[in-house]
Amino acid sequence: MSQDTFPIRKVDHVRHYVNNARQSAYFYQHTFGFNITGFYGLETGIKDEAGYLLEQNDIKLIFSAPIRPGHPMAPAIAEHGDFVRDIAFEVDDVDWAYKAALDRGAQGAVEPTTKEDDLGKVRYAAIHTYGNVIHTLINRDHYKGHMWPGFREMNEPGDGIGIQEIDHCVGNVELGKMNVWVKWYEDVLGFKNLISFDDKDISTEYTSLMSKVMANGNGRVKFPINEPAAGKKKSQIDEYLEFFGGPGVQHVALRTDDIVYTVSRLRARGVDFLSVPKSYYDMLPDRVGKIDEDIAVLADLGILVDRDDEGYLLQIFTKPITDRPTLFYEIIHRKGAQSFGKGNFKALFESIEREQALRGTL
Ligand code: FE2
Repeated sequence: MSQDTFPIRKVDHVRHYVNNARQSAYFYQHTFGFNITGFYGLETGIKDEAGYLLEQNDIKLIFSAPIRPGHPMAPAIAEHGDFVRDIAFEVDDVDWAYKAALDRGAQGAVEPTTKEDDLGKVRYAAIHTYGNVIHTLINRDHYKGHMWPGFREMNEPGDGIGIQEIDHCVGNVELGKMNVWVKWYEDVLGFKNLISFDDKDISTEYTSLMSKVMANGNGRVKFPINEPAAGKKKSQIDEYLEFFGGPGVQHVALRTDDIVYTVSRLRARGVDFLSVPKSYYDMLPDRVGKIDEDIAVLADLGILVDRDDEGYLLQIFTKPITDRPTLFYEIIHRKGAQSFGKGNFKALFESIEREQALRGTL
């Protein structure tokens, strides 16, 4: 066992900066079934932005929006559209973690800070990673509330869809930058490269990409990092970089223990998913062997299956959830398999290319 040189407990929360936090909160409550559990803004003494905390099992999302001109995040929102600003890590010791990260080459974003109220105190800091994304380092061991001082508790329950935790978060970076950020996660945060995919693994007739999956010391934080590779046409990563205006978070994978239930609920509420041809399901028994689920049901819902040495997994990808072809979600159900669905890449990328062709961006 190698030593964990940067102990991280898990992803604490994912924070989006958006133009209208109230509408985003409503969307995620009514599609993904999140509970709205916290609010901050003018009514809680915050003068320049408003935000909502959404929770479902171990998943915490925050949606924040500027509420007056001149807010420091306004230019980034104008550039990227609604975007993932922060993948926050829960750590044991914020001060140690921030100093260690800076000593190892990270650029600081927020100096260690304490927020305190009647429910206790929270310590946090933040460092920059690729593009306009930061990693907040947070410890809430001495806080009894849902998030941190400044949030007013809310109780607007959503109708949950069985999603349990964040499985992985994927970053798209520019051509030639994947290895730069792989080294950054190794050097600064002690991550290890779990798996690499090259353009032979991830290519279709037209497009290709390269990907390396990085994982933290305890294996609970998994970050695939993608860069475009040369193809006959524009790759989905190039499309992302163009419309997003630089590197950023491509997708967030949410883990469920019942993917048929989760996807049925999402479809009933109008969430659109990538589809694969019916022939995918004709070949499925030969490719993955015996599985617990009824293949006709999976085919009906468009759920994909892949097998590795340890078991199998089921997964599906939404279409982009913003106007721009940028951020999307994955729903993943792991039955032993700890991998990422390599056997589905080809079918998926052909599906993405059909969507790109409709957008005129292939
Ligand atoms: Fe994924």
